[in-house]
Amino acid sequence: MSDFYVPRRDLAQAIIDRIRPDPILGNHSGLFLAAPRRTGKSTFLRRDLMPLLEEAGNVTIYVDLWADRDADPGRLIADAIAAKLDSLSSRIAKAARALTPKSVTVGGVEVVLDSASGGRTATLGQALSMIGERTGRDVALVIDEAQHALSSTAGLDAIFALKAARDEMNQRSTGQRLSLVFTGSHRDKLAGFVRSHRDPFYGAEVTDFPKLGRPYLQALVGALNERLARDNQLDLDDVEQAFALLGHQPELLQRVLKDHAMGEQGSHGLHRTVRDRADDLRQLRWDQHRSDYGTLSDLQKVVLSLLCDEGPAFAPFAEATLARMSTRADRAVSAPDVQKALNALRDKSIVWSPGRGLYALEDQDMREWLLTD
Ligand SMILES: Nc1ncnc2c1ncn2[C@@H]1O[C@H](COP(=O)(O)OP(=O)(O)OP(=O)(O)O)[C@@H](O)[C@H]1O
Ligand SMILES: [Mg+2]
Repeated sequence: MSDFYVPRRDLAQAIIDRIRPDPILGNHSGLFLAAPRRTGKSTFLRRDLMPLLEEAGNVTIYVDLWADRDADPGRLIADAIAAKLDSLSSRIAKAARALTPKSVTVGGVEVVLDSASGGRTATLGQALSMIGERTGRDVALVIDEAQHALSSTAGLDAIFALKAARDEMNQRSTGQRLSLVFTGSHRDKLAGFVRSHRDPFYGAEVTDFPKLGRPYLQALVGALNERLARDNQLDLDDVEQAFALLGHQPELLQRVLKDHAMGEQGSHGLHRTVRDRADDLRQLRWDQHRSDYGTLSDLQKVVLSLLCDEGPAFAPFAEATLARMSTRADRAVSAPDVQKALNALRDKSIVWSPGRGLYALEDQDMREWLLTD
C-alpha cells in the first residue's frame, strides 16, 4: 500500500497552463500554492507536476526547503541551481565548459561547482539563464515549503534574485523563459511573499491547492475492496465523509480504513462511525493540537487566540493588541510579556515567525481546532 498513488495529470496540466509566460499578457508573477499539512503537495509536485513540466519541454529544478532544516534556505536554492548547471556542464565539450562559472552566489552564500573551470562567479539569475541557454529549453523552478526562504537573509535574497531573473528572462524578446512555482502549508505563511510593497512578489495571488478528491477515493476503495470479502466491502460515500472529517489526509484515512476493515467492526462499521462518531474521527486529526495546547501558560493561550483571530494582520506589540490581550488575560500585559510568550510558542513549534513582523500558526489546522473546541 505504501506506493499506492493516483495520478493527477489534469491538475498538473491546469497548473502548467497558468504558469506559462503569456506572450500577450506578459509576465506571470509566479504561482503560490497553499494547502494544509499532509494533504499531498510534495507528492503532486514530484510525481505529477515535474514530469509533465519536463514533457512540456522545460528543464526542471526542484527544491524542498524542508529537506534539511539546518541548512540555510538560500543555500538550498543555490545548491539546486548549481547542481543543475553542474550536471549540464559535465555533458558538454571542454571548450564550452570554460564558460561555466566557478560558483553560484546569493546573499553571501557561495556554492562551488564541481565542474568549475573559469574564475567567474555567477549570480542565481546568470546561472538560470545559462541553464536555459545550454539546454535551449525553458526553465521551471519549483520550491516546496517556500515559506522557509523568508527566515534567512540569504533565503530572502534568493527569492528577490529569482524574481529579478524571471523579469529578465521573460521580458526579453527572445530566449528561454523562467516559470516559478512555490508551495507552502498555508496562505498566511506565503503572505510574506506578496503582502506589502517591500515583499518580493507583491501583488501576486496565493491559490488554494486542491485537496485529493473523488478519483483518489474511488481508486483507493476499489483497490481495498478487491482484497476484502464480498460481505465486508467499503462504501465510497462513507469513505468520502471520513476523509473530509480527517482533514483530507491520506495517511489518517488509511489508518482508519485499516482499523475498520480488518477489525471487528468490519467495513460496515465505518458507516456507523461517520454517522454516530464523527467527532472521534475529527479528534484523531486534532490529538496532537490538544496535547500541545495543554502545555501552554495562560498568557501563551491568549497570544495564540489573538493570532488566530487576526491572521496575517496580527500586530502583537500594537497598543490595541496589548489592550485586547490584557482584557482576555484579565491582567496588564506588556510588550516584553508578549515577546516572551511568542518566543515560547515558537520554541514549541506552535507559532511560526520568520521575522519582519510576520507571525502565523505552524500548523494552520490548529486554528480550526481552537475555533471548534
Ligand atoms: N495522488 C496520490 N495518490 C495516493 N496517495 C497520495 C497521493 N498524494 C499524496 N498521497 C499520500 O498522502 C500522504 C501525504 O503526501 P505528501 O507528503 O505529498 O503531502 P504534503 O502535503 O507534502 O505533506 P507535508 O505537509 O508533510 O509536506 C503521503 O502518504 C502520500 O503517499
Ligand atoms: Mg511536503
